[in-house]
Amino acid sequence: MLLLKGAAQVVTPPASDSPLTGDMMGRVELHTRSDVAIRNGRIVEVGRKLDYPDAEVIDARGKVVVPGFVDPHTHLVWAGSREHELEWKLQGRSYQDILADGGGILRTVKETRAASEEELREESLHRLRNATRYGTTTIEIKSGYGLQREDELKQLRVARWLGEQGLAEVVSTFMGAHAFPPDSSRSEYIEQIEEMLPEVAELAEYCDVFCEEGAFTTNESRRLLEAAREAGMGLRIHADEFGDTGGGTLGAELKVASADHLSGSSMATIEALRDAGVTGILLPGTPLALLESKFASARKMVAAELPLALATDCNPNCYTESMQLVMQLAVFRMKLTPGEALTAATLNGALALGRSNRGAIASGWRADLLVCNVPDYRHLTYHFGINHVETVIIGGRIANA
Ligand code: NIG
Ligand code: FE
Repeated sequence: MLLLKGAAQVVTPPASDSPLTGDMMGRVELHTRSDVAIRNGRIVEVGRKLDYPDAEVIDARGKVVVPGFVDPHTHLVWAGSREHELEWKLQGRSYQDILADGGGILRTVKETRAASEEELREESLHRLRNATRYGTTTIEIKSGYGLQREDELKQLRVARWLGEQGLAEVVSTFMGAHAFPPDSSRSEYIEQIEEMLPEVAELAEYCDVFCEEGAFTTNESRRLLEAAREAGMGLRIHADEFGDTGGGTLGAELKVASADHLSGSSMATIEALRDAGVTGILLPGTPLALLESKFASARKMVAAELPLALATDCNPNCYTESMQLVMQLAVFRMKLTPGEALTAATLNGALALGRSNRGAIASGWRADLLVCNVPDYRHLTYHFGINHVETVIIGGRIANA
């Protein structure tokens, strides 16, 4: 039993089993000078002067308690790094040009294939610890730096192992369709991915495809996602990162769990996604790391009542584990309000990963909670660039990251 005592504010999106949209997205509940009681991994109650004599007490006076962050889009398992590509980007080279030249994803594929499972575990664990220290309590992790059976499986096994470390809980996604490997033709590789599906479906809950010019066409993406659905997997899509190239529309057609990026989506695509019940996952770290100024049209999406979540996209191109930074970028560059950013970083992300009863602070909900050293929740997106998270509670236990 744990008791968070005397928090200046306990702030949460209202508990809901469907994502919050429109005006509801920013309407967080605020309990002042309150306690949170936790038993057996669940929240018992929120209230003033709660009395549980047997509980271990955490002093939260002058601090803010919020739900743990959910990061629903990362590529956390990789080997090597690409700091040299930042210099190329500074010289004006584009992401797609670097990829077409064997850099980008393909550079990381080389390094990830060459790494042993043990090395991959160690590099990835370091990042998972960072994510947890910065408040992430549930994290989605994609494969996609193997691009051949044994190395995709290696990445997924590492993701499963990461989920067993008592840090952020892991949700796994197979993303063999991240790029085309240099060693086979387009059609051969599409067939290879289809052959991998029964085996990867044992390790991954979702399948994701990078549907974009320079990556997988809409027809290739449709074929693969339909096959993945057939294999029993949930679906996600990387869509409209650079322009409205059909990925968002395909996501709506297939009613995927989430369509991610959406910086280039048109109003018609945004409305189609909303009508299909798809959550848009926005990744503002990506245009930042690409030295671009085009961020997703979040205000238009909120007005259109498209459910939104936020994620880091943590990968060797956009290298951050911090959901706090992502929330700050969402406010500074996409004009979400602090309350909308909190909802998008918690409840809406959890639901986009098919997880209910987490991402809000309510009786009976999973006790994933953060004690933040700020006087008001709005400081999470006002005072930027430092880590405000002091204590991370995952499933009712203090995480030791
Ligand atoms: O979501 N766009 C495709 N995949 C990742 C980038 C991966 C990489 O550059 O290594 C993304 O941005
Ligand atoms: Fe991504």
